[in-house]
Amino acid sequence: MINWRYCLLIDKETISEIKNSVNIVDVIGETVALTKAGRNFLGLCPFHGEKTPSFNVVEDKQFYHCFGCGKSGDVFKFIEDYRGVSFMDAVQVIAERAGIPLAAENAGSDRPRQQHPHQALYDIHTEAAKFYHAVLMTTKMGEQARDYLYQRGLTDEVLKHFQIGLAPSEGNYLHQSMAGKFDENTIMNSGLFNLAENNLVYDAFQNRIMFPLTNDSGQVVAFSGRIWQEAPADGHTAKYKNSRATAIFNKSYELYHLDRAKPVIKKSHEVYLMEGFMDVIAAYRAGIENAVASMGTALTPEHVQHLSKYSKKIILSYDGDKAGQAATAKALDELRDLSVEIVRFPDNLDPDEFLAKHSPEDLQHLLTKTRISNVEFLLHYLKPDNIENLQAQIDFLEKMAPIIAKTKSITAQQSYIYMLTDLLSYFEFQQVEQAVNNSRLDGRRERQEEQGYQSYQQAPAVVEQPLSKQLSPLIRAENHLLYRMVHSPLILNQYRLREDFAFATEELQTLYTILLSNGEVTPQDLSQLPDSVQHAWYYMLEANLPEESSDEELREVEETREKELLRKDNQLISKKLREHYHNGNTDAALLDLQQIIEQKRRME
Ligand code: CTP
Ligand code: MN
Repeated sequence: MINWRYCLLIDKETISEIKNSVNIVDVIGETVALTKAGRNFLGLCPFHGEKTPSFNVVEDKQFYHCFGCGKSGDVFKFIEDYRGVSFMDAVQVIAERAGIPLAAENAGSDRPRQQHPHQALYDIHTEAAKFYHAVLMTTKMGEQARDYLYQRGLTDEVLKHFQIGLAPSEGNYLHQSMAGKFDENTIMNSGLFNLAENNLVYDAFQNRIMFPLTNDSGQVVAFSGRIWQEAPADGHTAKYKNSRATAIFNKSYELYHLDRAKPVIKKSHEVYLMEGFMDVIAAYRAGIENAVASMGTALTPEHVQHLSKYSKKIILSYDGDKAGQAATAKALDELRDLSVEIVRFPDNLDPDEFLAKHSPEDLQHLLTKTRISNVEFLLHYLKPDNIENLQAQIDFLEKMAPIIAKTKSITAQQSYIYMLTDLLSYFEFQQVEQAVNNSRLDGRRERQEEQGYQSYQQAPAVVEQPLSKQLSPLIRAENHLLYRMVHSPLILNQYRLREDFAFATEELQTLYTILLSNGEVTPQDLSQLPDSVQHAWYYMLEANLPEESSDEELREVEETREKELLRKDNQLISKKLREHYHNGNTDAALLDLQQIIEQKRRME
């Protein structure tokens, strides 16, 4: 039903602007756990009960379609059907989400804008930012400070974009410039000045490079100043000094550069979270404008709430050193309700240091193309140094199992189990899988007890990250082979003739058997198969190989496969060997050892 009251107020252009300002994958992803499958996203249909996913979201074309019940439509239709509201209400829901004001809300807004109670504080900060910027750009002293900044790779364009400034080296220059324009209350409450014992006012920031800090609307609300000449040898001059908390500045809430990053966040649906100002600036220099930083404090729940107003997807890009990695692990906990990816910086570098050593393209590549999921990060981060030790492996498995169990997508879960198995010489895939399943059951029981069954069922699903393609080399090789068979009857036939050929990965072997007997795997076939096999299918299709294939290519892939099979075999025997030793069965252990040596020879 069309609601004419709204139709008068929202025109066609606005409606399409509203539609274009969101990504249907994000919107649906908030209520349906979606997994990337090929070029689309796949999940369990929210409109009919199903156990195997047939609900497709097509990002390119911004629509959804369920192969099970046939429902389809655009983002508005989804909201209409899912929430049972009218079209116009759906438009409003999306507009609100996108931060686009609707005419209905604006009606009658001709009234003069009311002055903000802290307007003077905003004004004094605006003036101060102009003052500091002018000192940097136009004075003799500024020239030296600019040289320092140029040496760090900044250009005048960057200095202007970030309105970077310089606080003069002593006295009360800022105060002299502001005293005539603002009343005493404003001056004393601004955080920009201090009172000396003799009651004289002096500037709080002296001889520092000044970074203005803005709120969401771009108003300057505080500053951070960095030392740039040799620090006095007192040993306690901080590298960065921030404004104290004021009526307009809460440093546990504000995020550096968020105001300028906002439009890009809206378009890209993601935001980079970094540690420092210079890191955000480095990202900007590499063409990435949707980066922000918390200001010298660890990430707080207020920061998280603030960020989540603009994006449900955070890319953690903290320093590559130990402290940065520890901060990442902590932030992951704070960000648990959002979707998170992580960029790891090599050689202990922070983003700014990385840019100093590499090109802007390299930094851009690192930030956009090398992200890993939270579980992958924790696999690195929590991996014990003495991973060869059995007890260490058990502890590691116990830590990782519940983390992997929380992963919404089954496909991702399977891959994590493979990755973890790869790190654990004492354990088989099935054992790791069992550990994950056990802790999933534990988790479920706990949550049900905590919240009651009803609310657990309604718990919001988090969008699962597409896995970076870190399958085990064996599965990768086998995926590659099956992909070629699916796309070329000729290749399929070659393997048909090799009667001894079989896939080592059970799911792929199941698919291969169907392929051999039917010549294809249809959606009907798929729907009859267990989840794990269906996922293996989509995962294989994602391999996205070049169109042309060659015998040479297949030979290489098979070689990899053989090597991996031998390696797995070896792991198995090594494990038996350890058990035999442990039980004092030295004869059997010797036999195993011999086998290992023979195998190693074959692998060379
Ligand atoms: N910080 C702060 N007070 C300090 C040190 C750091 O507020 N005494 C904040 C700043 O926001 C800084 C961030 O923490 O940007 C990260 O600190 P650090 O990694 O030490 O500095 P860098 O960002 O590497 O700064 P630079 O490259 O200028 O040395
Ligand atoms: Mn740095």
